[in-house]
Amino acid sequence: MVARRPLVAGNWKMYGTASEAAALARALKERLAGVESVDVVVAPPYTALHAVRPVLQHTGIVLAAQNVHWAAKGAFTGEIAAPMLQEAGCGAAIVGHSERRQLFGETDDTVRGRVRACLDHGLMPILCVGETLAERDASRTLDVVRGQLDAALDGLTPEQVLRVVLAYEPVWAIGTGRTATPAQAEEIHAFLRARIGTSFGAPVSHHSRILYGGSVKPDNIDDLMAQPDIDGALVGGASLKAEDFDRIVRFRGLTPRP
Ligand code: PGA
Repeated sequence: MVARRPLVAGNWKMYGTASEAAALARALKERLAGVESVDVVVAPPYTALHAVRPVLQHTGIVLAAQNVHWAAKGAFTGEIAAPMLQEAGCGAAIVGHSERRQLFGETDDTVRGRVRACLDHGLMPILCVGETLAERDASRTLDVVRGQLDAALDGLTPEQVLRVVLAYEPVWAIGTGRTATPAQAEEIHAFLRARIGTSFGAPVSHHSRILYGGSVKPDNIDDLMAQPDIDGALVGGASLKAEDFDRIVRFRGLTPRP
């Protein structure tokens, strides 16, 4: 069977003016030259996309947005549509991040619409699911992530699901410095993969990439990536430091620095 290609994505959140983001991109371009065995994605703020795009040209690093609206255009003040992102050079978009779900009223329905918009307009959706601490403490983790996954992928074809990258991000681990243990993460990754298999068939589940996110750092990435169902990482805080992100992309000495 073909191995899944690892993917490491940096979510820059609301950090970086256009010039700061371009400087970070230049540092990453230099550091990551020669990395060929890992797909690398960075998601700057919208206002920095145009500044970062030319820096990343011919690097293989994929430009992504941090969100996308479900409609192709319309009277939606403050939103950004998939065709706009595509023209701005994006190849991917983060969808359903817990900060969107928790702070900005994102629901399973809106997440589903945003996943579809990505697929309709050639963007790779990075679909985030994850439970809160209260949900974990109430032993509801599996129900919560299954519900989020099923809702987001409802009605898609197996071929479409193959183009979705899933990210398991326990809310209690995001920005807290408290990472899920590799065993905790693996349990949920294996569960999500099995669920994809039940809904869309074994080949889709085998090929689907599932990233872990939540306080991923240079000192925990190797153990996380040693788990059989963890195919990469969605990195927040540590993606803002070129040195740390570089080390995460080169997990387990996979692509040692020359
Ligand atoms: P963190 O964020 O790495 O800072 O915990 C991860 C994320 O929000 O995607």
